[in-house]
Amino acid sequence: MNKTDNQALVIFGASGDLTYRKLIPAVFDLFMNQSLPEGYVVLGISRSPFTDKQFRKKMKEGILHFAHYRNAEMEQVDIFLSRLYYLSIDTGKGEEYKEVKEKLNMLNRQYNLRHNYIFYLSTPPTLYTIIPKYLYGQGLTLQQKGFRRIIIEKPFGHDLASAINLNDELLEFFEEDQIYRIDHYLGKETVQNLMVTRFANGIYEPLWNRNYIQHVEITAAESLGVEERGGYYDHSGALRDMIQNHLLQVLSLIAMEPPAKITPEDIRFEKLKVFRSLRPFSREDLKMNVIRGQYTEATVRGKHYKGYREEKNVGGSSRTETYAAMKIFVDNWRWQGVPFYIRSGKRLPTSVTEVVIHFRPSPQKLFKSSGNEPHADNQLILRIQPDEGILLKTGMKVPGRGFEVKSVNMDFHYSELNDHYIPSAYERLILDCMTGDNTLYMSSEAAKETWRFVQPVLDYWENDEDAPLHGYPAGSWGPDVADDLIEGKENTWRYPCKNLAEDGVYCEL
Ligand code: BG6
Repeated sequence: MNKTDNQALVIFGASGDLTYRKLIPAVFDLFMNQSLPEGYVVLGISRSPFTDKQFRKKMKEGILHFAHYRNAEMEQVDIFLSRLYYLSIDTGKGEEYKEVKEKLNMLNRQYNLRHNYIFYLSTPPTLYTIIPKYLYGQGLTLQQKGFRRIIIEKPFGHDLASAINLNDELLEFFEEDQIYRIDHYLGKETVQNLMVTRFANGIYEPLWNRNYIQHVEITAAESLGVEERGGYYDHSGALRDMIQNHLLQVLSLIAMEPPAKITPEDIRFEKLKVFRSLRPFSREDLKMNVIRGQYTEATVRGKHYKGYREEKNVGGSSRTETYAAMKIFVDNWRWQGVPFYIRSGKRLPTSVTEVVIHFRPSPQKLFKSSGNEPHADNQLILRIQPDEGILLKTGMKVPGRGFEVKSVNMDFHYSELNDHYIPSAYERLILDCMTGDNTLYMSSEAAKETWRFVQPVLDYWENDEDAPLHGYPAGSWGPDVADDLIEGKENTWRYPCKNLAEDGVYCEL
């Protein structure tokens, strides 16, 4: 691993929720794991008029709630908090960035930061080009003395054209290798494990292609609704919020070729090839292979759930999708003809993210299936969260007379590795940026290609009055028509429960 040099993390949008819930707890965990360098400070910047003391107090609460080491000795928490500083400026005004420069110079002298700065934009996207411009104006983006990196939260653009514009504008102030586009899914251990499972084992790779795999499912289900984020979500929707980024990233790890080496360039190159191979949606595909839905009010076991349109800051006749499902093809040698089914939704029966590899059935059906099991195809389930692990469904003989076959589970749970510390996604990603490793960050090309792929769907939904929006009751598995997406009479989505090995149609909210 690269050495971690002295440096400052400068967080714009420091009074926001992300800083409180994710960023500072993650940096604190890095501190507890002794991953921070000797000279290290966090400078929080926002418009809210906090003093350093008030900022530290709020961040302390965040740490005590959300950090892995939330039960650490108070003395340790206080040592860490003493490295947090705060500056209140109007980030929309160029002249106020002089204060940022002065403050950083001062902290530099005090902590020997070697002029190394990471700027983290945890702000509304409207500031994504403004902040870089003003940092540039103060010479803060130039790497003459130390490194200067910028981390940008999603959404990276709102559509293809805005993503291209954003990229071009950022490149006026930063070089591509200074820009870290965060997709927190890539920081999840179990997402990284997708690549390791494939390429560290001899047994999967020979089967990992169109000859042995019938189809692939990728599901990211959430039981929560939009909660307090209606304002943002109503302009986004499931396609922009989850599919364009997180789920297509997961797909690329499932579909990519083995990289020549485990270097950022080689891995990003292989993933990009997958994005370039995604078959563009035709007019017909848009009608047949893409489904959107929106949750409606429902009472589940006596508890009432609002419909999406009744949520705070959501338009009463909103047509934003809270569920999206699609059938995708990867047009390359390995995956020709293999459908990838992707779905994501809010207010589904449970919260789970997983990939299911459905292998082709054995060429001859020699044995009878037991009970009313329709058929027992082999499935490899890669569970990303919760109850992370791997499950292989395989046919076994039912004990007794005859040769009846039953599907059984061979499962491994990450929790069995309990002697290993599993870092949070943000912890891992911030540390990578500190060491200059951008493997798990999105390249500009990947961002562009994924937008290019989803753009026809966005256009179709926005402009075509006939494009249906299906209602689904809160707490159900989305629109019923989603089952028709899956090819083959006997095939349906897997309906996963909270527990990796349990699967059934019904799950508790
Ligand atoms: C975010 C989306 O990027 O990912 C949210 O904006 C979503 O709407 C979240 O809830 C899901 O992330 P995770 O890590 O909880 O699966």
